[in-house]
This record gives sequence, structure tokens and C-alpha cells, in this order.
Amino acid sequence: MKGIVLAGGKGTRLYPLTLSVSKQLMPIYDKPMIYYPLATLIAAGIQDILIISTPEDLPLFQRLLGDGSRWGCTLRFAEQAAPKGLAEAFLIGEEFIGKDDVALILGDNLFHGSKQLEQLKQNRKPKGGQIFAYQVKDPQRYGVVEFDENQQAIGLEEKPAQPKSSYAVPGLYLYDNTVVEKAKNLSPSKRGELEITEINQQYLAEGKLRVTPLELGATWLDTGTIESLTAAGQYVQAIQSRQGVLVGSPEIAAYRSGAITKQELQQLATQQAESDYGKAINAFVSNE
Ligand code: DAU
Repeated sequence: MKGIVLAGGKGTRLYPLTLSVSKQLMPIYDKPMIYYPLATLIAAGIQDILIISTPEDLPLFQRLLGDGSRWGCTLRFAEQAAPKGLAEAFLIGEEFIGKDDVALILGDNLFHGSKQLEQLKQNRKPKGGQIFAYQVKDPQRYGVVEFDENQQAIGLEEKPAQPKSSYAVPGLYLYDNTVVEKAKNLSPSKRGELEITEINQQYLAEGKLRVTPLELGATWLDTGTIESLTAAGQYVQAIQSRQGVLVGSPEIAAYRSGAITKQELQQLATQQAESDYGKAINAFVSNE
């Protein structure tokens, strides 16, 4: 399975923070935002990953992330000329995806919770589409899924004024290869975007969409507003200072998934030994 991190967009809801710097480079506590979704893909064993961002920001991501080899993966980079919607990722990534299945994760989404990782690993060969559902108190801000009494998904709506459930669809989507053709079938919505929700609606109409509610203890945070950005930073700080283990570290994810050795992890810690981040990796290696 290939992986795509979508890290473009204008970030207008975070102005003035994002006037000159990409939203997905903003810190969430001790690391750049994009580390979190990237670590999620790496932890699931996905090693071929495409980063999509704006023409202005892409060089910054390349400088930050490099070619991925230090984390045992291959990173490629592609431009999205204008923010024409999440589903455009499959058109930009068509050649990269080739004949494979693909996981798309949004660059401003943070997932945390062990069972969730298992769910991701188990679904690396999706028969159709696999998405998740997460209960929130403000579903109208998201894609919303409606279930029948047997917990079967029966409808999906993008930012409905009157949501039919409190289950939002998080920004992690696993698809078989037909997603590329499905993306080609789309036309821009009223807000001028190629909507991921319409891809999911196509899978649903074919009877090939699995919607799995995330376990209650799992954490899904999106970080698109200043309040949610701050809350995400506080969450990471609280977990890390309590457990002493980094959340959203590509280095540790790569080690845990077997992509790099303990020795290689140690080297990565040494290279960053002056920062608390490097020290935390070092402490992790010592406990292994
Ligand atoms: O966070 C999950 C939600 O993400 C889903 O529940 C919705 O169904 C889905 O449409 C999306 O909602 P938003 O409209 O709030 O997404 P937003 O425009 O904030 O974009 C999400 C991320 O993708 C953000 O990091 C910017 C990036 N992006 C967005 C667009 C529209 C791109 O890189 N390119 C784009 O064209």
C-alpha cells in the first residue's frame, strides 16, 4: 500500500500564523504538525509515501523531511497548484499510486491510540474503501456518516447544517486502486472542491465502503483552528510528560515497524541530542 500526506491548503483559519509558513509546519508541542500523520503511516508499515503541498511550501517540506531514508521509507513530493479539494490528491498521485492501494492522511490530523494502529495495519488490503467514524460534539464541521440500527453506514454528507449523526469522518482514508477512477468522475462541489465525501459516496453506492467507529479511548484531533492547535499541543505535552514516550515521532514509528534498527535509531537520537526531542528518543532507546 502507498501512502499520501496532503499538506497544502491556505491555512486561512490560522492567519497571521500561516501568512508566511505552511500550517502543517506549525509546532504541535515539540515537533512540526506533519510529523504526526507521517508517523501514523510509518507505524502502519507504509514505506512509500507522497507528500503533496503548495508550490511555495514544498521546498520547506523537502528540507525538513529529506528523502525519508533515515526513517526507512521513501518520500516523494508533488505540488498541488491550488487547493482544489482533498480528492485531487488521487489525480496528482495517479502515477505514484500506479496499480497499488493507497492510504490518504490529512497533514493536520493527529491520531493516537494503539488499537487504531491495528485497525490501520489490518486494512492495508482494503476491498473497496475503509474509513473511520469518531463521535464529536460539532459534527457540522466535518464529513458526517449516518448509520442504521445495525451500525451499517447508510449515508454520508459533507458539513451538513443538520447532521444526521454525531459521527465525523476523520482524515484517514484507505482505498483500493479504483479510487483514481472515482476521483476522475468528480466535478467541483458548490465550494469549488473535489470532495473526498463524494469518493466515499461512490464506494457506499457500490456496497464497498466499510466505516469503522474508532474505539472510545482513541484520540483524533484536527488542528485547523488556533483553539484546536493549542489543545493538540497541550494533549501531546500531557501524554509525553506522563508516559515519557514521544507521540508522533517518525523515528520511533520507524523503529517499531521494523523499518530501522535500534542502532540506527540511536544515531538519529545522537544527531538531535541537544533538543528535548532527541533526549526523549535517547531515553526510549535506553529502555529498549
Ligand atoms: O479533518 C477531517 C475532515 O477533513 C473531514 O471530515 C471532511 O470530510 C473533509 O472534507 C475535510 O474537511 P475540511 O474541509 O475541514 O478540510 P480542510 O479544508 O481543512 O483541509 C484538510 C487538510 O487538507 C488541511 O491540512 C489542508 C489540506 N488541503 C485541503 C484542501 C482543500 C490540501 O492540501 N489541499 C486542498 O485542496
